Amino acid sequence: MDNILKRIAEQRQREEKLAWEGSFEEYLGMVRDRPELAQTAHSRVYNMIAGAGVEKDEQGNKEYRFFSRELFGLDRSIERLVEEYFHSAARRLDVRKRILLLMGPVSGGKSTIVTMLKRGLENYSRTDAGAVYGIKGCPMQEEPLHLIPHSMRPDVEKELGVRIEGNLCPSCRMMLKEEYGGRIEDVVIKRILFSEDDRVGIGTFSPSDPKSQDIADLTGSIDFATITEYGSESDPRAYRFDGELNKANRGLMEFQEMLKCDEKFLWNLLSLTQEGNFKAGRFALISADELIIAHTNESEYKSFIANKKNEALQSRIIVMPVPYNLKVSEEEKIYEKLIRQSDLGHIHIAPHALKAAATFSILTRLKDSKKQGMDLVKKMRLYDGKSVEGYKETDVEDLRNEHLDEGMSGIDPRYVINRISSALIRTEANYINALDILRSIKDGLDQHPSINKDERECYLNFISIARKEYDELAKKEVQKAFVYSYEESAKTLMDNYLDNVEAYCNWTKIRDPLTGEELEPDEKLMRSIEEQIGISENAKKAFREEILIRISAFARKGKRFNYNSHDRLREAIQKKLFTDLKDVVKITTSTKTPDENQLKKINEVIVTLVDKHGYTTASANELLRYVGSLLNR
Ligand SMILES: Nc1ncnc2c1ncn2[C@@H]1O[C@H](COP(=O)(O)OP(=O)(O)OP(=O)(O)O)[C@@H](O)[C@H]1O
Ligand SMILES: [Mg+2]
Repeated sequence: MDNILKRIAEQRQREEKLAWEGSFEEYLGMVRDRPELAQTAHSRVYNMIAGAGVEKDEQGNKEYRFFSRELFGLDRSIERLVEEYFHSAARRLDVRKRILLLMGPVSGGKSTIVTMLKRGLENYSRTDAGAVYGIKGCPMQEEPLHLIPHSMRPDVEKELGVRIEGNLCPSCRMMLKEEYGGRIEDVVIKRILFSEDDRVGIGTFSPSDPKSQDIADLTGSIDFATITEYGSESDPRAYRFDGELNKANRGLMEFQEMLKCDEKFLWNLLSLTQEGNFKAGRFALISADELIIAHTNESEYKSFIANKKNEALQSRIIVMPVPYNLKVSEEEKIYEKLIRQSDLGHIHIAPHALKAAATFSILTRLKDSKKQGMDLVKKMRLYDGKSVEGYKETDVEDLRNEHLDEGMSGIDPRYVINRISSALIRTEANYINALDILRSIKDGLDQHPSINKDERECYLNFISIARKEYDELAKKEVQKAFVYSYEESAKTLMDNYLDNVEAYCNWTKIRDPLTGEELEPDEKLMRSIEEQIGISENAKKAFREEILIRISAFARKGKRFNYNSHDRLREAIQKKLFTDLKDVVKITTSTKTPDENQLKKINEVIVTLVDKHGYTTASANELLRYVGSLLNR
């Protein structure tokens, strides 16, 4: 309790420390030292994103850390958004005068992008790099440099190294005359801390009933309380500059469901956003320096552009597609995040269960390829960065270019999360596994409002593919666990193989440790291991020689070549061991009444599954039973 109160006090102190007030003269001095204080809203947003860091992978794909903390698998869309819109806009290219429209399928992350930008800007305005200053008393926290008369701007711009765009707002114009007697240097400037709750620098507009929608919500309105006092609608004191566009000045305004607005309203918006100015009441154009972000779905967008009447507005919009994520591993992260955020986090979800759900989701989003021999499962693997026999990295790019609208349809993450929740709530055990989730997804398809009969058929097929994929994983998991408890045998087998390879390559014999007898290298043993990883008769010599070279390379560095030194060889050994063990597994996992020895083995495997692979005892037991039944089919 004390702790909480202390933290609240600290927070207040931090905000108080950030507060700053001074004269216009002082502000000019600060801008001379740090011209970036006078940057545009777009430039501030770009610097905020870029400042959080960018990571590049081997293919040159960029990952912007600002977004990648919370958004998964949207790197390509984000890269495009940052580079084509934010970066160009920051460089004062024309795009900044356009409305940014994020277009994508339901719960594909559009709102999340906007929310991250909003919260990000609030925080950024509290840092040195993102500091914002405005005219004190201005309802639009206006850039103080607007005080400088147009005739003087070219000189001032040169001296300070900044660009000054925009006219002083009617309210400040009046204030300068009435309160400061025109003495610009005395005008009080203050630091602005963005806050959506306080309606400073961050705004949200969501359309209400189209018929009664009032443009005043955006641009402010006449103040009926003071109009009698000032007598004129063109007196700024009789006007409330409290529309969302006013309030969001210097920052960002979110325009929710923009295309649901009445046409007439949008036309109004058109004259309004034109060239970075908007018209309010009986005033000259008011300059707005803010980012306007709207979002919509594909079908709304299509019907919008189909309407010829919207052409003018269309050219003032920059559309950025935000399709669904298409990588299974990233989809799993989305579910993990959403489950963590829900109150279901305490129920155990067995390993690979979310992967099974993700496999299904991604399959529903992919489109068939015309490439020879390609199918959806292969495509899914390639997209997820896995290697698929016969295809290269460059093929992935081709696949992506085949359908430009891939990811614009399919199952949304929210549906899957709802089904997982429903499975979690229904379970009587304290865990759920892949089959529970897939079953729940299947049961839910009937109630899904936007799935027709054909799609349903198709989706049922995807569920069974996802299940097959899971079966393979489950088998491998048990195999690994069994082999783990046979690790000693694996090491012995490995040493045995290496002795034989050495003798084979050096044309020598092997001494039997028991009898001391000299033997030829055991070709059958070596082949039985090599065949596990597809090494042909012709390739065996090269493979063995490579192993020997590795061993001597290790020796030179004073290291011992062991079971874990060579990935492919380890895989071969494991597979060989498992082939030998298969019957043991089959029997141990499926007998109703295991004998003492079998019981011991089963317990060891369960311990391994719990300790090494993230199962609980109950879910591990169930996995064994399931795999046992699979092996006996
Ligand atoms: N690629 C993703 N990475 C991380 N989380 C995601 C991703 N896509 C969706 N989500 C999560 O799914 C939920 C729904 O996303 P969000 O509300 O941002 O979607 P939206 O595109 O605005 O949807 P709608 O069209 O329904 O408004 C959010 O909790 C969001 O965090
Ligand atoms: Mg949304």
